[in-house]
Amino acid sequence: MKKVNPFKEEDAVEVDGTFKELKALNSKPYNKETADPYTKVRVILMNGTEFESNWFLHQFNRHCNNNELRREIAAVRRHEQQQQKIISSLRPLDETDLETTISYEQLAVDLTAILARHVKDENVKNALNFALLEDFDHLYRFSNLLEMEEGKSAKDIVGKYTEIMPGRPTIAEHRHPYDSINKFICNMLSDPFTRLTTHIITAAEQQTMNYYMNVANLHKSEMGRKLYSEIAMIEEQHVTEYGSLIDTNCTWLEGWVMHEYTECYLYYSCYNDEPDKDIKAIYGALYKEECGHLKKAAEMLEKHEGKNWKCLFPDGGDFPELLKFEGNIEYIRDVIAKTVLLTKDKENYKEASKMSEKSDYKKYNGKVCKNANTVPSHEVMANYIKRNGEDFRFETSQHPIEELRNRKEDNTTLAR
Ligand SMILES: [Fe+2]
Ligand SMILES: [Fe+2]
Ligand SMILES: [Fe+2]
Ligand SMILES: [Fe+2]
Repeated sequence: MKKVNPFKEEDAVEVDGTFKELKALNSKPYNKETADPYTKVRVILMNGTEFESNWFLHQFNRHCNNNELRREIAAVRRHEQQQQKIISSLRPLDETDLETTISYEQLAVDLTAILARHVKDENVKNALNFALLEDFDHLYRFSNLLEMEEGKSAKDIVGKYTEIMPGRPTIAEHRHPYDSINKFICNMLSDPFTRLTTHIITAAEQQTMNYYMNVANLHKSEMGRKLYSEIAMIEEQHVTEYGSLIDTNCTWLEGWVMHEYTECYLYYSCYNDEPDKDIKAIYGALYKEECGHLKKAAEMLEKHEGKNWKCLFPDGGDFPELLKFEGNIEYIRDVIAKTVLLTKDKENYKEASKMSEKSDYKKYNGKVCKNANTVPSHEVMANYIKRNGEDFRFETSQHPIEELRNRKEDNTTLAR
């Protein structure tokens, strides 16, 4: 594969004077019936990446005492905002919030699995495999809500790529905040794919958290509102777990370069992965804009801190292998079989059944999930099973965990 280096992109679009006319911010949405499931997933991923860039640059603005630099930050951020509108308007009007939610959790499942399969750093890999089983379970719970409320099969949304069945039951996922902090990586000692992984997964999970925080009170049913609220609490844990992997020793300007590099990598990956011609063209164009942002951020790093971008990329800045969406059914089954019983004990992973009653996990989980019957992620299943006799799921073969095979009863004790 030919090496691609965004620092050396000849067609990089200069930041100055490239604002688009407002009418160009509304894209032609995909057709929800015919679009590939991963086309929807990529739109969510890039929307979340733009959100992260936007908020990172707002926070930077609020922590910077140099107005000359703050003007440059404002100019790039305005650009990020234009890009975010172009991406988010790809979602069609007739896609319901709950249908979009299925794609959010499919992104969480398959993106996490792909990154976990490819990343070399054990600390990062463990964090991914751990939360993977939780988003996998969310997909199952939301799919049952979708069938119950809108009569739609989530299988038609995820396609043949992703199974829909219980993972680590959501009721078991509620952990003390102290257990959500992970060891942070050191960029200098990490390979480029590891560095990118920490930024990509944090932005994606943060997008899911924000989405649930916003749609929970807009949802039309009491059951749905409660389920969104509960799962939003788990996404807060995921964002903390993943965000705490990012190298904390970066300065704001170094962090800016890392953000732009991540955007370049993702747009270039999506450009190569996207079958829809119109959307592919958008990714290609935005990649070149991101190369312009990267150039600007590197220039600011040099000007204000006297550092060359190469000190952040001692390996030269070529992209590592690109991100490519594909199904992960066998991989996920294997992770379930080996790790479904785990919980966290500070930075470590332990079987929940081996934790003492005095542990932070047991105390917190026992408190927030005091009565299993009133925990929404269980209630939604109990309601569904009561109406339909058995749950909704899509399995390609028998579930790897015996306790999660019973379709007539939702298990509330496993992994707690
Ligand atoms: Fe951007
Ligand atoms: Fe999730
Ligand atoms: Fe998540
Ligand atoms: Fe950017």
